[in-house]
Amino acid sequence: VYTLEVNHDILPEIRSRQSCREYLKTSIPQDAVQRILDAGCQAPSGANQQPWHMIVVDSPKRKRAIRNACEVADRGFHQHATATVRRWLEDHGITTEKPFLTDAPVLIAVLYDPKAPYSLHSVWIAIAFMLLQATREGLGSLPYTPSAADIKALLNVPQHLQLASILPIGVPRETVRQPRKPLTETQSWNQYGASRNPVA
Ligand SMILES: Cc1cc2nc3c(=O)[nH]c(=O)nc-3n(C[C@H](O)[C@H](O)[C@H](O)COP(=O)(O)O)c2cc1C
Repeated sequence: VYTLEVNHDILPEIRSRQSCREYLKTSIPQDAVQRILDAGCQAPSGANQQPWHMIVVDSPKRKRAIRNACEVADRGFHQHATATVRRWLEDHGITTEKPFLTDAPVLIAVLYDPKAPYSLHSVWIAIAFMLLQATREGLGSLPYTPSAADIKALLNVPQHLQLASILPIGVPRETVRQPRKPLTETQSWNQYGASRNPVA
């Protein structure tokens, strides 16, 4: 067995990252935002096409316009959600009010080019990297996916790009740790449903 002299702990940011839906209105350093964007751009992507573009929104007027559009669209989403999803949303206090879109000092609108190979997979890896770097910076974040709101027009986005997510970034006011399934429930060995043979 190949062994390496490294710290084998899972990256602390992977374990400590949490979705944040409540932010202080405190501003955050520009260089932290740049490092978060840089982290996203280090992600792997289909055929290395790097099919993403990030718009940093810090104008209060534009954040307000985004919030209004998202709240209108989310009312439709909540109305049409399945009973299970609606219950989960209610239990977690997720309403159609989106104060994080105006309270967070910065929103990162993440766009992707759907014509690039595996563009959606790629852009979500970039999002994951940005969430981890935000955690590293001591900042809160959230992979918010507005339902069908016409955000593109508000941000002057060219037709050929799609919106993957809007990430509020800021000083967290509150986050709640969400449970994870036990590891044994999410893995099999050699075929679906089989557990690993005990090591001899
Ligand atoms: C693809 C994706 C879409 C999501 N969309 C939303 C969203 O629209 N609104 C929201 O409040 N949270 C959204 N989330 C956050 C999840 O609810 C959250 O990641 C999950 O409950 C686990 O909590 P944690 O991120 O704190 O570990 C989304 C997460 C992912 C990965």
